[in-house]
Amino acid sequence: MRAWMCERDQLQEKFKTHQLVEVVELFHSCYSWVWSVVVLGRSFEVTQCLSCDKQLHMTSMSRFIICISKTRTCGEIGRLTHVTASTSNRQVRAALQAYFHCSRQISSDTMGEYCLTYKDVEEAVERIKPAAHVTPVMTSKTMDGLAGRELFFKCELFQKVGAFKFRGAYNAISKLLEKAEDKSSIKVVTHSSGNHGQALALAAKMKNVPAFIVMQNISPKIKVTAVKGYGATVVECEPGEKSREETKDKVAKEQGAIFISSSQHPDVIAGQGTMGVELLNQVPDLDAIVAPVSGGGMVAGICIAAKHIKPDIKIFAAEPLNADDCAKSFAAKERIPLPWPPDTVADGLKTSVGPNTWPIIKDNVEDVITVTEEEIIKATKLMWERVKLCVEPSAGTAVAAVLSDKFRALPPSIKKVGIILSGGNLDLSKLSTWF
Ligand SMILES: Cc1ncc(COP(=O)(O)O)c(C=O)c1O
Repeated sequence: MRAWMCERDQLQEKFKTHQLVEVVELFHSCYSWVWSVVVLGRSFEVTQCLSCDKQLHMTSMSRFIICISKTRTCGEIGRLTHVTASTSNRQVRAALQAYFHCSRQISSDTMGEYCLTYKDVEEAVERIKPAAHVTPVMTSKTMDGLAGRELFFKCELFQKVGAFKFRGAYNAISKLLEKAEDKSSIKVVTHSSGNHGQALALAAKMKNVPAFIVMQNISPKIKVTAVKGYGATVVECEPGEKSREETKDKVAKEQGAIFISSSQHPDVIAGQGTMGVELLNQVPDLDAIVAPVSGGGMVAGICIAAKHIKPDIKIFAAEPLNADDCAKSFAAKERIPLPWPPDTVADGLKTSVGPNTWPIIKDNVEDVITVTEEEIIKATKLMWERVKLCVEPSAGTAVAAVLSDKFRALPPSIKKVGIILSGGNLDLSKLSTWF
């Protein structure tokens, strides 16, 4: 942040007549969204403040730079999200560099602080209390023997919709409603063929909010039926990232719906962080927590929560080797998203770590442990057979990581390990291919 400070006066002077306030704060609070909101030579319509959800007006001020009007609706200027157009990181970076006449390298991943704090997680704990289950923690002597440590399974497969995703979705929608002046105008949209889609659909139904879930036209019928069953509108798109994004943007624009990203929305991350609080209430003397990683919302949320409560706790991310962007990024100390989509049985773990979750993961995760498809299947089956917990392979990935040679080689001082069993939504039609 300090690097930006020196330009502050210069920028404020420049934007004085355009009502821009606190340039430093602008970057401070929206740094993580900046790559998706700056658009060269384009004029935006409106976007909203993620902190208070009031609408902020953005216009293109000069050739490319963001401007936020003085519609300062909360303590900070606001992170920006949901715009009608986007541009590549490279273009944005080049534009910012040109604007600031600055030769130093600007990286989206080194620009600032995290997009949420422990306070956000604390608030999320209160927000989701009336709706989410406090999921049980289970133990198994057999599994302890296999891992050589004491394991504590946090059973998010028993969460509403059968996965932890309900926490983040419910927190995000509840916060939107809390802050909205006209609650009846709130609508939400996301793209997800998995647990987040179902979670957002259910949370929206519980809060009487219209939800639009963009699903690829190759999504299993059972998942489409589940989302429709929760009362959401399913909008089909072609397979592939481009169509998903475009369809989501179209729905957002046409319906005036707010995009709730499955792992990058700060309120979603805060909601997932409630697991860390809950688990450390249930087992206060844990030495480590292992959780599967995809977009990183869960691991990032747990890092923010658990490291605040118990700073010496170690957080490990578990990832399929076939979708190892987090491991590669961790090794390179730079976010390296995978070409989409990777092929793995852990169908909840195909997304790459995103710009909001990466800085948190980079700083707080002890290590990323990758496991093969065979290891994932073996660990998942082991959980069914020996622990009688019907976990899905994405959750089995965390179990596989704890049973891996790499984890077994960790010092014996890591005695008590929490494992997040993140979901239990099995695609039964695929099971035959496993045996
Ligand atoms: C069951 C399950 N576990 C783990 C994850 C990974 O969560 P995140 O994207 O927050 O890393 C997902 C994501 O969809 C999931 O459905």
